[in-house]
Amino acid sequence: MDGEKRGLVAPTGANLDEAARIIRAGGLVAFPTETVYGLGADATSDRAVARLFEVKGRPRLNPLIIHVAGLAAAERQVAFDARAAALARAFWPGPLTLVLARRADSEISLLASAGLDTLALRVPNHPVGRALIEAAARPVAAPSANRSGEVSPTTAAHVADSLGPAVDMILDGGPCPIGLESTVVDLSGPRPAILRPGGVSDDEIEAVVGRLAPPAEDAGRPRSPGRLASHYAPRLPLRLDVRAARPGEALLAFGPKPPAGFAEVSNLSPAGDLAQAAANLFAMLRALDRPEFAAIAVMAIPEAGLGRAINDRLRRAAGA
Ligand code: TXA
Ligand code: MG
Repeated sequence: MDGEKRGLVAPTGANLDEAARIIRAGGLVAFPTETVYGLGADATSDRAVARLFEVKGRPRLNPLIIHVAGLAAAERQVAFDARAAALARAFWPGPLTLVLARRADSEISLLASAGLDTLALRVPNHPVGRALIEAAARPVAAPSANRSGEVSPTTAAHVADSLGPAVDMILDGGPCPIGLESTVVDLSGPRPAILRPGGVSDDEIEAVVGRLAPPAEDAGRPRSPGRLASHYAPRLPLRLDVRAARPGEALLAFGPKPPAGFAEVSNLSPAGDLAQAAANLFAMLRALDRPEFAAIAVMAIPEAGLGRAINDRLRRAAGA
């Protein structure tokens, strides 16, 4: 089949410029990395990231890996310690993702990190992926470029088959040399822990930072939601599917007709738009999580499309 017709383009200079323009405008570009094809969005834009979740059809708003051009760009978003610097020196660019404490002045979308105080960062080692990130001149959030539940794509044709016209551009850089996702290492706790095995082995990581935390030992620490639940939870209790106010509550509203009587109201989307609601979710939850309120009351969100992922997050936050 003709590649152009399926949205596949060669990574020429002109196409890379266009891809960078699409990212900066809030669009979605699939691009090759050395591990798998990623579906890239401007990581500083809640709206772009919401669209990414929508297109993937993920049932959960899990935190995404943020792709940056190099160590200096990573250091603008997270706090590096000696272990992180050593791992970055040894494996970047390459198939290693580091989870580190988010800097207070980080510009990454809270939706991209699912509201967590940590960020997962990596510097991919693929000329096309790197050229795109450099041309976009901003951090790029990129999960694997497939619909949720399908295997990760290792060719541009896989991406076209899975996502097709939902993607604004697919940069065809040939097959991915590694074909397996990056290793995710959590450095936000006292001992490094592997959250997801991948392109760099445990032994290679231990050779740089010493003994890893055994998987069972990391109880009580933030973990990769792909394996064990790690999620942002507000300090205040959450009350879901709310129709009427109780004393002292703040309201997280959805839609044009929020009930009256709340101490404060933030509306996820007055127009009832689920992508807008997802984009606002974590920032608004954080803004309402203040001790002056008795609880955060949340209106019902429709259980469809992105609404399912939003409800999954809200239920887990309420149960924490
Ligand atoms: O090879 C790869 O890593 C590919 C290519 C495209 O770079 N990307 C990829 O991205 O697999 P994604 O977003 O699907 O991977 C997310 C993984 C999940 O296991 C997620 O839970 C973990 O990274 N993760 C992301 N942010 C995290 C955080 N703040 N804390 C813990 N785990 C995090
Ligand atoms: Mg995936």
